[in-house]
Amino acid sequence: MKFIISPAQSLEGELTVAGDKSVSHRSIILGSLANGKTVVREILEGEDVLATIAAFRAMGVPIKRTGDKNYEIEGVGMDGLSQPGAAMDMGNSGTAFRLLTGLLSGQKWSSTLVGDESLTIRPMGRIITPLSMMGAKIESNDGCPPLHMTPVEKLMGRHYDMPIASAQVKSSLLFAGMYASGITSVSEPGPSRDHTERMLRGFGYDVQTQGSIISLEGGGELTSCEIDVPADLSSATFFILAGLIVPDSEIVLAKVGVNPSRNGVLSVLAKMGADIQPTNENIVGGEPVADLVVRSSSLKGCEICGDEVALAIDEIPAISVAAACAQGVTKITGAQELRVKESDRISSVVNGLRNLGVKVEELADGMIIEGGRLKGGKVDSYGDHRIAMSFSVAGAVASGNVEVENCANVATSFPDFRELANRIGLSIDVSE
Ligand code: S3P
Repeated sequence: MKFIISPAQSLEGELTVAGDKSVSHRSIILGSLANGKTVVREILEGEDVLATIAAFRAMGVPIKRTGDKNYEIEGVGMDGLSQPGAAMDMGNSGTAFRLLTGLLSGQKWSSTLVGDESLTIRPMGRIITPLSMMGAKIESNDGCPPLHMTPVEKLMGRHYDMPIASAQVKSSLLFAGMYASGITSVSEPGPSRDHTERMLRGFGYDVQTQGSIISLEGGGELTSCEIDVPADLSSATFFILAGLIVPDSEIVLAKVGVNPSRNGVLSVLAKMGADIQPTNENIVGGEPVADLVVRSSSLKGCEICGDEVALAIDEIPAISVAAACAQGVTKITGAQELRVKESDRISSVVNGLRNLGVKVEELADGMIIEGGRLKGGKVDSYGDHRIAMSFSVAGAVASGNVEVENCANVATSFPDFRELANRIGLSIDVSE
Protein backbone atom coordinates (compact mmCIF):
# COMPACT_ATOMS: atom_id res chain seq x y z
CA MET A 1 0.00 0.00 0.00
CA LYS A 2 1.31 3.46 -0.80
CA PHE A 3 0.30 6.96 0.27
CA ILE A 4 0.25 9.77 -2.29
CA ILE A 5 0.54 13.20 -0.71
CA SER A 6 -0.18 16.54 -2.39
CA PRO A 7 0.97 19.88 -0.96
CA ALA A 8 -1.40 21.41 1.63
CA GLN A 9 -2.49 25.03 2.14
CA SER A 10 -3.28 25.71 5.77
CA LEU A 11 -4.45 23.28 8.43
CA GLU A 12 -7.20 23.80 10.93
CA GLY A 13 -9.27 21.79 13.37
CA GLU A 14 -9.40 19.91 16.65
CA LEU A 15 -8.51 16.22 16.76
CA THR A 16 -8.32 13.43 19.30
CA VAL A 17 -5.72 10.98 18.03
CA ALA A 18 -5.75 7.25 18.78
CA GLY A 19 -5.07 5.95 22.29
CA ASP A 20 -1.57 5.58 23.69
CA LYS A 21 0.04 2.36 22.49
CA SER A 22 2.26 1.82 25.55
CA VAL A 23 -0.61 2.39 27.98
CA SER A 24 -2.98 0.22 25.91
CA HIS A 25 -0.65 -2.83 25.95
CA ARG A 26 -0.09 -2.49 29.67
CA SER A 27 -3.81 -2.11 30.44
CA ILE A 28 -4.53 -5.46 28.77
CA ILE A 29 -1.60 -7.20 30.47
CA LEU A 30 -2.29 -5.95 34.00
CA GLY A 31 -6.09 -6.15 33.62
CA SER A 32 -5.70 -9.81 32.65
CA LEU A 33 -3.58 -10.57 35.74
CA ALA A 34 -5.74 -8.60 38.18
CA ASN A 35 -8.45 -9.89 40.48
CA GLY A 36 -11.80 -8.58 39.25
CA LYS A 37 -13.12 -6.73 36.22
CA THR A 38 -10.99 -4.01 34.63
CA VAL A 39 -12.63 -1.50 32.31
CA VAL A 40 -10.46 0.14 29.64
CA ARG A 41 -11.76 3.12 27.65
CA GLU A 42 -10.28 4.75 24.53
CA ILE A 43 -7.82 1.91 23.99
CA LEU A 44 -5.78 1.89 20.78
CA GLU A 45 -7.40 -0.60 18.41
CA GLY A 46 -4.26 -0.87 16.30
CA GLU A 47 -2.74 -4.16 15.17
CA ASP A 48 -0.05 -4.16 17.87
CA VAL A 49 -2.53 -3.93 20.73
CA LEU A 50 -4.95 -6.32 19.01
CA ALA A 51 -2.07 -8.84 19.03
CA THR A 52 -1.75 -8.42 22.81
CA ILE A 53 -5.52 -8.85 23.24
CA ALA A 54 -5.43 -12.01 21.10
CA ALA A 55 -2.54 -13.41 23.16
CA PHE A 56 -4.36 -12.97 26.47
CA ARG A 57 -7.55 -14.43 25.02
CA ALA A 58 -5.44 -17.40 23.91
CA MET A 59 -4.24 -17.69 27.53
CA GLY A 60 -7.85 -17.97 28.68
CA VAL A 61 -8.66 -14.39 29.72
CA PRO A 62 -12.21 -13.27 28.90
CA ILE A 63 -11.77 -9.89 27.16
CA LYS A 64 -14.97 -8.36 25.86
CA ARG A 65 -15.23 -5.44 23.43
CA THR A 66 -18.08 -3.42 24.91
CA GLY A 67 -18.05 -0.62 22.34
CA ASP A 68 -15.82 1.39 20.08
CA LYS A 69 -12.35 1.33 21.76
CA ASN A 70 -13.86 0.11 25.05
CA TYR A 71 -13.06 -3.24 26.66
CA GLU A 72 -13.88 -5.20 29.80
CA ILE A 73 -11.33 -7.67 31.07
CA GLU A 74 -12.32 -10.41 33.54
CA GLY A 75 -8.96 -10.68 35.27
CA VAL A 76 -7.87 -14.23 36.11
CA GLY A 77 -5.43 -13.34 38.89
CA MET A 78 -1.64 -13.69 38.92
CA ASP A 79 -1.71 -17.49 38.58
CA GLY A 80 -4.81 -17.80 36.41
CA LEU A 81 -3.36 -17.75 32.89
CA SER A 82 -3.58 -21.04 31.01
CA GLN A 83 -1.24 -22.50 28.40
CA PRO A 84 -2.26 -21.43 24.89
CA GLY A 85 -2.70 -24.13 22.28
CA ALA A 86 -0.21 -22.61 19.84
CA ALA A 87 2.59 -20.06 19.49
CA MET A 88 1.43 -16.51 20.12
CA ASP A 89 2.03 -14.11 17.22
CA MET A 90 2.92 -10.59 18.33
CA GLY A 91 3.01 -9.30 14.74
CA ASN A 92 5.10 -6.12 14.44
CA SER A 93 5.09 -5.28 18.15
CA GLY A 94 8.45 -5.24 19.93
CA THR A 95 6.74 -3.90 23.05
CA ALA A 96 4.21 -6.73 23.28
CA PHE A 97 6.93 -9.28 22.51
CA ARG A 98 9.36 -8.10 25.18
CA LEU A 99 6.77 -7.44 27.88
CA LEU A 100 5.21 -10.87 27.36
CA THR A 101 8.56 -12.64 27.39
CA GLY A 102 9.15 -11.46 30.97
CA LEU A 103 5.68 -12.47 32.04
CA LEU A 104 5.79 -15.87 30.31
CA SER A 105 9.18 -16.69 31.86
CA GLY A 106 7.43 -16.92 35.21
CA GLN A 107 4.55 -19.21 34.15
CA LYS A 108 4.27 -22.89 35.04
CA TRP A 109 3.95 -23.99 31.40
CA SER A 110 5.98 -23.56 28.24
CA SER A 111 5.14 -21.03 25.55
CA THR A 112 6.40 -19.68 22.24
CA LEU A 113 6.30 -16.13 20.89
CA VAL A 114 6.67 -15.34 17.20
CA GLY A 115 6.52 -12.11 15.18
CA ASP A 116 6.48 -10.71 11.66
CA GLU A 117 9.50 -10.30 9.37
CA SER A 118 10.63 -7.02 10.98
CA LEU A 119 10.21 -8.30 14.55
CA THR A 120 12.06 -11.49 13.70
CA ILE A 121 15.33 -9.59 13.23
CA ARG A 122 15.00 -7.38 16.33
CA PRO A 123 17.41 -8.05 19.21
CA MET A 124 16.03 -10.02 22.16
CA GLY A 125 19.39 -10.65 23.87
CA ARG A 126 18.69 -7.49 25.87
CA ILE A 127 15.87 -9.32 27.70
CA ILE A 128 17.16 -12.90 27.44
CA THR A 129 20.39 -12.04 29.30
CA PRO A 130 18.83 -10.50 32.43
CA LEU A 131 15.85 -12.90 32.48
CA SER A 132 18.32 -15.82 32.33
CA MET A 133 20.16 -14.29 35.31
CA MET A 134 16.83 -14.60 37.16
CA GLY A 135 16.77 -18.30 36.23
CA ALA A 136 14.49 -18.13 33.16
CA LYS A 137 14.95 -20.73 30.41
CA ILE A 138 14.57 -19.06 27.03
CA GLU A 139 15.60 -20.45 23.66
CA SER A 140 15.97 -18.07 20.73
CA ASN A 141 17.10 -17.99 17.15
CA ASP A 142 20.55 -16.55 17.84
CA GLY A 143 19.17 -13.81 20.09
CA CYS A 144 16.16 -13.07 17.86
CA PRO A 145 12.54 -14.32 17.70
CA PRO A 146 10.97 -16.80 17.86
CA LEU A 147 11.47 -17.30 21.61
CA HIS A 148 10.53 -20.43 23.48
CA MET A 149 10.05 -20.25 27.26
CA THR A 150 10.36 -23.43 29.40
CA PRO A 151 9.00 -23.34 32.96
CA VAL A 152 11.40 -23.28 35.92
CA GLU A 153 10.68 -24.02 39.60
CA LYS A 154 10.83 -20.33 40.60
CA LEU A 155 12.49 -17.23 39.17
CA MET A 156 14.90 -15.47 41.52
CA GLY A 157 14.71 -11.73 42.09
CA ARG A 158 17.97 -10.01 41.09
CA HIS A 159 19.37 -6.56 40.53
CA TYR A 160 20.25 -5.69 36.93
CA ASP A 161 22.17 -2.64 35.71
CA MET A 162 20.60 -2.04 32.32
CA PRO A 163 23.24 -1.13 29.71
CA ILE A 164 20.63 0.79 27.66
CA ALA A 165 17.67 2.90 28.75
CA SER A 166 14.68 0.86 27.63
CA ALA A 167 11.15 0.79 28.99
CA GLN A 168 10.59 -2.52 27.23
CA VAL A 169 13.52 -4.18 29.02
CA LYS A 170 12.64 -2.58 32.36
CA SER A 171 8.99 -3.67 32.07
CA SER A 172 9.90 -7.19 30.97
CA LEU A 173 12.05 -7.61 34.09
CA LEU A 174 9.44 -6.09 36.42
CA PHE A 175 6.76 -8.42 35.02
CA ALA A 176 9.07 -11.42 35.55
CA GLY A 177 9.86 -10.01 38.99
CA MET A 178 6.21 -10.30 40.04
CA TYR A 179 6.70 -14.09 39.70
CA ALA A 180 10.17 -14.19 41.31
CA SER A 181 11.27 -14.77 44.88
CA GLY A 182 12.40 -11.63 46.72
CA ILE A 183 13.16 -8.28 45.16
CA THR A 184 13.75 -7.58 41.47
CA SER A 185 15.39 -4.26 40.71
CA VAL A 186 16.79 -2.48 37.67
CA SER A 187 18.86 0.64 37.29
CA GLU A 188 18.59 2.74 34.17
CA PRO A 189 21.47 4.60 32.54
CA GLY A 190 19.02 7.25 31.29
CA PRO A 191 15.30 8.00 31.32
CA SER A 192 12.71 5.66 29.81
CA ARG A 193 8.92 5.87 29.90
CA ASP A 194 7.46 4.94 33.29
CA HIS A 195 3.96 3.77 32.28
CA THR A 196 4.58 0.32 33.80
CA GLU A 197 5.47 1.71 37.22
CA ARG A 198 2.51 4.11 37.19
CA MET A 199 0.03 1.46 36.11
CA LEU A 200 1.31 -1.19 38.53
CA ARG A 201 0.69 1.30 41.34
CA GLY A 202 -2.76 2.02 39.90
CA PHE A 203 -3.51 -1.71 40.21
CA GLY A 204 -2.27 -1.62 43.83
CA TYR A 205 1.14 -3.28 43.30
CA ASP A 206 3.92 -1.66 45.31
CA VAL A 207 6.76 -0.42 43.07
CA GLN A 208 9.63 1.63 44.46
CA THR A 209 11.46 4.27 42.43
CA GLN A 210 14.61 5.67 44.02
CA GLY A 211 16.59 7.80 41.64
CA SER A 212 17.36 5.59 38.67
CA ILE A 213 16.55 2.34 40.52
CA ILE A 214 13.13 0.73 40.20
CA SER A 215 12.21 -2.31 42.29
CA LEU A 216 9.34 -4.54 43.33
CA GLU A 217 8.87 -7.66 45.41
CA GLY A 218 7.48 -10.84 43.87
CA GLY A 219 4.32 -12.55 45.01
CA GLY A 220 1.99 -9.53 45.08
CA GLU A 221 -1.55 -9.23 43.74
CA LEU A 222 -3.20 -6.79 41.34
CA THR A 223 -6.62 -5.28 41.97
CA SER A 224 -8.78 -4.40 38.97
CA CYS A 225 -9.43 -0.76 38.12
CA GLU A 226 -10.78 1.55 35.41
CA ILE A 227 -8.40 3.01 32.85
CA ASP A 228 -8.93 5.96 30.51
CA VAL A 229 -6.18 5.72 27.92
CA PRO A 230 -4.77 9.14 26.96
CA ALA A 231 -4.28 10.07 23.30
CA ASP A 232 -0.86 8.94 22.09
CA LEU A 233 1.75 11.70 22.06
CA SER A 234 3.73 9.73 19.46
CA SER A 235 0.73 9.74 17.10
CA ALA A 236 -0.12 13.37 17.95
CA THR A 237 3.44 14.27 16.95
CA PHE A 238 2.65 13.81 13.24
CA PHE A 239 -0.07 16.46 13.46
CA ILE A 240 2.07 18.69 15.68
CA LEU A 241 4.69 18.52 12.93
CA ALA A 242 2.05 19.27 10.28
CA GLY A 243 0.69 22.25 12.22
CA LEU A 244 4.19 23.68 12.63
CA ILE A 245 5.46 23.36 9.06
CA VAL A 246 2.34 24.10 6.99
CA PRO A 247 1.93 27.92 6.89
CA ASP A 248 -1.15 29.59 8.42
CA SER A 249 -2.16 26.56 10.45
CA GLU A 250 -3.69 26.21 13.89
CA ILE A 251 -4.70 22.83 15.23
CA VAL A 252 -5.68 21.53 18.64
CA LEU A 253 -4.82 18.01 19.79
CA ALA A 254 -7.07 16.96 22.64
CA LYS A 255 -6.25 14.93 25.76
CA VAL A 256 -2.73 14.00 24.77
CA GLY A 257 -0.58 12.04 27.22
CA VAL A 258 2.34 14.28 28.20
CA ASN A 259 4.09 11.99 30.70
CA PRO A 260 7.45 13.69 31.43
CA SER A 261 9.33 10.42 30.94
CA ARG A 262 8.50 10.56 27.22
CA ASN A 263 7.50 14.10 26.26
CA GLY A 264 10.94 15.14 24.99
CA VAL A 265 9.48 15.90 21.57
CA LEU A 266 7.77 18.96 23.05
CA SER A 267 10.96 20.41 24.51
CA VAL A 268 13.04 19.60 21.43
CA LEU A 269 10.50 21.30 19.15
CA ALA A 270 10.26 24.26 21.57
CA LYS A 271 14.05 24.59 21.31
CA MET A 272 13.59 24.73 17.52
CA GLY A 273 11.15 27.63 17.94
CA ALA A 274 7.83 25.73 17.83
CA ASP A 275 4.66 27.37 19.10
CA ILE A 276 2.95 24.57 21.06
CA GLN A 277 0.80 25.63 24.00
CA PRO A 278 -0.48 23.06 26.50
CA THR A 279 -3.90 23.82 28.02
CA ASN A 280 -6.42 21.96 30.22
CA GLU A 281 -3.61 20.12 31.98
CA ASN A 282 -4.95 17.26 34.05
CA ILE A 283 -4.06 13.86 35.53
CA VAL A 284 -6.10 10.96 34.16
CA GLY A 285 -5.57 7.52 35.70
CA GLY A 286 -2.14 8.50 36.98
CA GLU A 287 -0.99 9.88 33.60
CA PRO A 288 -0.61 13.62 32.89
CA VAL A 289 -2.65 14.80 29.89
CA ALA A 290 -3.14 18.17 28.15
CA ASP A 291 -4.70 19.70 25.07
CA LEU A 292 -1.97 20.99 22.76
CA VAL A 293 -2.56 24.08 20.63
CA VAL A 294 -0.12 24.12 17.71
CA ARG A 295 0.51 27.09 15.39
CA SER A 296 2.72 27.42 12.30
CA SER A 297 6.22 28.40 13.35
CA SER A 298 9.49 29.27 11.69
CA LEU A 299 11.76 26.56 13.00
CA LYS A 300 15.51 26.73 13.40
CA GLY A 301 18.06 23.93 13.52
CA CYS A 302 19.60 22.78 16.81
CA GLU A 303 21.65 20.02 18.44
CA ILE A 304 19.76 17.05 19.88
CA CYS A 305 21.68 14.59 22.06
CA GLY A 306 21.82 12.59 25.31
CA ASP A 307 18.63 12.38 27.39
CA GLU A 308 16.79 14.53 24.83
CA VAL A 309 17.01 11.59 22.43
CA ALA A 310 15.90 9.03 25.03
CA LEU A 311 12.89 11.18 25.96
CA ALA A 312 11.82 11.50 22.32
CA ILE A 313 12.97 8.11 21.02
CA ASP A 314 9.88 7.38 18.89
CA GLU A 315 9.57 10.95 17.64
CA ILE A 316 13.03 11.36 16.08
CA PRO A 317 11.75 10.59 12.54
CA ALA A 318 9.16 13.39 12.81
CA ILE A 319 11.71 15.71 14.43
CA SER A 320 14.05 14.98 11.49
CA VAL A 321 11.37 16.16 9.06
CA ALA A 322 10.95 19.32 11.19
CA ALA A 323 14.73 19.79 10.96
CA ALA A 324 14.59 19.44 7.16
CA CYS A 325 12.03 22.30 7.11
CA ALA A 326 13.97 24.47 9.56
CA GLN A 327 16.54 27.18 8.94
CA GLY A 328 20.08 26.00 9.57
CA VAL A 329 21.61 22.71 10.58
CA THR A 330 20.32 20.10 13.04
CA LYS A 331 22.69 17.51 14.49
CA ILE A 332 21.23 14.42 16.17
CA THR A 333 23.65 12.16 18.07
CA GLY A 334 23.41 9.39 20.66
CA ALA A 335 20.47 7.86 18.80
CA GLN A 336 22.00 4.45 17.89
CA GLU A 337 18.93 2.77 19.46
CA LEU A 338 17.02 3.91 16.35
CA ARG A 339 18.91 1.32 14.33
CA VAL A 340 16.96 -1.51 16.02
CA LYS A 341 13.42 -0.16 15.93
CA GLU A 342 10.71 -1.30 13.46
CA SER A 343 13.25 -0.38 10.77
CA ASP A 344 16.77 1.04 10.97
CA ARG A 345 15.30 4.48 11.50
CA ILE A 346 18.57 6.34 10.95
CA SER A 347 18.99 4.95 7.45
CA SER A 348 15.22 5.07 6.71
CA VAL A 349 15.10 8.79 7.55
CA VAL A 350 18.37 9.61 5.76
CA ASN A 351 17.25 7.84 2.57
CA GLY A 352 13.79 9.41 2.68
CA LEU A 353 15.09 12.94 3.20
CA ARG A 354 17.68 12.53 0.42
CA ASN A 355 14.92 11.42 -1.95
CA LEU A 356 13.14 14.70 -1.19
CA GLY A 357 16.26 16.72 -2.00
CA VAL A 358 17.49 17.34 1.54
CA LYS A 359 21.22 17.36 2.35
CA VAL A 360 21.82 14.83 5.12
CA GLU A 361 24.93 13.21 6.51
CA GLU A 362 24.44 9.80 8.11
CA LEU A 363 26.31 9.18 11.38
CA ALA A 364 26.66 5.86 13.19
CA ASP A 365 24.46 7.23 16.00
CA GLY A 366 22.40 9.91 14.28
CA MET A 367 22.51 12.38 11.41
CA ILE A 368 23.23 15.96 10.38
CA ILE A 369 20.38 17.60 8.48
CA GLU A 370 20.63 20.83 6.50
CA GLY A 371 17.29 22.60 6.52
CA GLY A 372 15.78 23.92 3.30
CA ARG A 373 12.97 23.24 0.84
CA LEU A 374 11.66 19.75 0.15
CA LYS A 375 10.92 18.58 -3.37
CA GLY A 376 8.52 15.89 -4.50
CA GLY A 377 9.69 12.29 -4.83
CA LYS A 378 9.37 8.68 -3.75
CA VAL A 379 10.12 7.51 -0.24
CA ASP A 380 10.28 3.95 1.09
CA SER A 381 8.95 3.61 4.63
CA TYR A 382 10.59 0.17 4.90
CA GLY A 383 7.32 -1.04 6.41
CA ASP A 384 7.86 1.22 9.44
CA HIS A 385 4.70 3.04 10.59
CA ARG A 386 6.50 6.06 12.04
CA ILE A 387 8.62 6.57 8.91
CA ALA A 388 5.47 6.32 6.76
CA MET A 389 3.59 8.94 8.79
CA SER A 390 6.56 11.32 9.15
CA PHE A 391 7.08 11.44 5.38
CA SER A 392 3.35 11.69 4.70
CA VAL A 393 3.45 14.96 6.63
CA ALA A 394 6.64 16.05 4.87
CA GLY A 395 4.68 15.73 1.61
CA ALA A 396 2.42 18.58 2.71
CA VAL A 397 5.24 21.12 2.26
CA ALA A 398 7.15 19.56 -0.66
CA SER A 399 7.15 21.39 -4.00
CA GLY A 400 5.65 18.34 -5.77
CA ASN A 401 3.75 15.19 -4.92
CA VAL A 402 5.35 12.71 -2.52
CA GLU A 403 4.72 8.95 -2.72
CA VAL A 404 5.40 6.93 0.40
CA GLU A 405 5.67 3.20 -0.19
CA ASN A 406 4.98 0.29 2.19
CA CYS A 407 2.44 2.06 4.38
CA ALA A 408 0.27 -0.89 5.50
CA ASN A 409 1.94 -0.93 8.93
CA VAL A 410 0.48 2.48 9.79
CA ALA A 411 -2.38 0.29 11.04
CA THR A 412 -0.13 -1.09 13.80
CA SER A 413 -0.25 2.15 15.79
CA PHE A 414 -2.63 4.63 14.13
CA PRO A 415 -5.36 3.03 11.99
CA ASP A 416 -7.25 6.26 11.33
CA PHE A 417 -4.18 8.40 10.60
CA ARG A 418 -5.17 9.21 7.01
CA GLU A 419 -8.77 10.01 7.86
CA LEU A 420 -7.78 12.44 10.64
CA ALA A 421 -4.98 13.94 8.52
CA ASN A 422 -7.38 14.71 5.68
CA ARG A 423 -9.92 16.14 8.15
CA ILE A 424 -7.53 18.98 9.15
CA GLY A 425 -6.57 19.75 5.53
CA LEU A 426 -3.74 17.40 4.62
CA SER A 427 -4.19 15.61 1.33
CA ILE A 428 -3.18 11.94 1.57
CA ASP A 429 -4.55 9.44 -0.96
CA VAL A 430 -4.02 5.74 -0.86
CA SER A 431 -3.18 3.34 -3.68
CA GLU A 432 -2.97 -0.45 -3.25
C1 S3P B 1 7.89 1.37 24.50
C2 S3P B 1 9.19 1.70 24.76
C3 S3P B 1 10.09 2.33 23.81
C4 S3P B 1 9.40 2.76 22.53
C5 S3P B 1 8.35 1.80 22.09
C6 S3P B 1 7.31 1.60 23.18
C7 S3P B 1 7.07 0.78 25.57
O1 S3P B 1 11.12 1.44 23.54
O2 S3P B 1 10.34 2.94 21.50
O3 S3P B 1 7.70 2.27 20.93
O4 S3P B 1 5.83 0.80 25.46
O5 S3P B 1 7.65 0.28 26.55
P1 S3P B 1 12.42 1.34 24.51
O6 S3P B 1 12.20 2.21 25.70
O7 S3P B 1 12.50 -0.08 24.89
O8 S3P B 1 13.53 1.84 23.66
